[in-house]
Amino acid sequence: MNKHSNIPGGNERLEIIGGKPLKGSVTVSGAKNAVLKLMTAALLANNRSIIRNVPRIRDVEIMIGVIQGLGAEVSWGDESTLIIKNTGDLGFSAPDELVREMRASAQVMGPLLTKIGRVKLFQPGGDVIGQRPINLHLKGFQALGAELVEEHGYVYLTANKLRGAEIHLDFPSVGATENIMAAAILAEGTTIIRNAAKEPEIIEEQNFYNRLGAKIRGAGTDTIRIEGVTVLNDREIDYTVIPDRIEAGTFMIAAAISGGDVTVGEVIPEHLDALIAKLRETGAEVQVEEDKVRVVAPGKLNAVDVTVLPYPGFPTDLQPQITALLTIANGTSIIVENIYSSRFRYVDELIRMGASIMVESRSAIVRGISSLSGATVLASDIRAAASLVIAGLAAQGRTTVEGLFHLDRGYEKIEQKLTMLGADLRRF
Ligand code: EPU
Repeated sequence: MNKHSNIPGGNERLEIIGGKPLKGSVTVSGAKNAVLKLMTAALLANNRSIIRNVPRIRDVEIMIGVIQGLGAEVSWGDESTLIIKNTGDLGFSAPDELVREMRASAQVMGPLLTKIGRVKLFQPGGDVIGQRPINLHLKGFQALGAELVEEHGYVYLTANKLRGAEIHLDFPSVGATENIMAAAILAEGTTIIRNAAKEPEIIEEQNFYNRLGAKIRGAGTDTIRIEGVTVLNDREIDYTVIPDRIEAGTFMIAAAISGGDVTVGEVIPEHLDALIAKLRETGAEVQVEEDKVRVVAPGKLNAVDVTVLPYPGFPTDLQPQITALLTIANGTSIIVENIYSSRFRYVDELIRMGASIMVESRSAIVRGISSLSGATVLASDIRAAASLVIAGLAAQGRTTVEGLFHLDRGYEKIEQKLTMLGADLRRF
């Protein structure tokens, strides 16, 4: 038994026979990174929160455990609808083992701090994609008047009264922006977050919180203003989550590398601007309609340079996937990763498939080769898993992707969706 044997998908692997061009249409699920935060936001609600378009993925299951551990009642309405209701008093300590398993659990801090003035959290450490401190979250809470103690591997926050403040983030951290925004909702006075993250998922949270009675504006820009309110309303919220731009991007890249012709549906094309521009630079044809994008692959792709930046720059969560694509492009590409300190771990696996990649610090130099060859490879995180699946779709022969539970953390029914597009793959 390996150490992941009790995790769903822990012992499973995906076998892909490469070389089949993907063709047809696919619909993406709701955005993982929005849903997870709306689930923590629901902790603030006085009534039921109904969240629609929720993907059935492992990370959502983990977050269900986290908020249930804090006292929320959670049930599935239908296949993709979550119903969350707070019962009586909320706890202040998220279950350690779930915080360890998923860093996004730290997003309970803001809602708990503003609602009950107290939080205990197992200090999330670094992970495979790099150091991932929460110092900016904590600095923000302190600026709002919370007291912080870090002891024995835990973070303790307490606040009798939070007061609005002006907070300038050293880096536009998504998690810090979201947590500080939440903490400021019931604070006295106005909070201004400058150099805030601008990701579309943050607009989702602003919308959700405002439906609960919060007064937030500016999400999607680098300045967010939260006017503290004394109470939230008692309305039931019924909220449909935006489509997952990273899942959409993953299918677009899969279409391009496989020499295919795929329409990716139910997307918000503006959320994919950076990727669309890069794919067009490789020579792929990308047609954009109101809620879909069609990617038609050229005979051979051209090398392109990619610089990963906070939104609206090229997303780090598509960096491993586009690197897979560039391994078989004409020429040399340089990929610069500016978000995580070590998000090139998957490169060794692509090299096992024949790719020519050199990593130096935060850059990868990819020399395009004529084709990849199938191999057994091990995924180390969600997007690494997606990258290896994409490489397998284009490789000659059989690719076996191990560590499949990573893929299941973020991609709903991925093998069914790829099979519908004509891919030859099977889960074991
Ligand atoms: N950072 C700090 N201090 C902080 C917070 C962040 O130094 O207090 C640094 C991190 O170490 C990292 C960088 O800032 O190097 C970016 O972190 P950020 O806080 O922006 O990311 P996050 O909120 O932890 C979310 C997504 C990630 C996605 C990033 C960047 C969720 C649940 N996760 O993480 O998604 O990569 O934003 O866009 O929303 C994924 O889905 O595969 C994934 C990793």
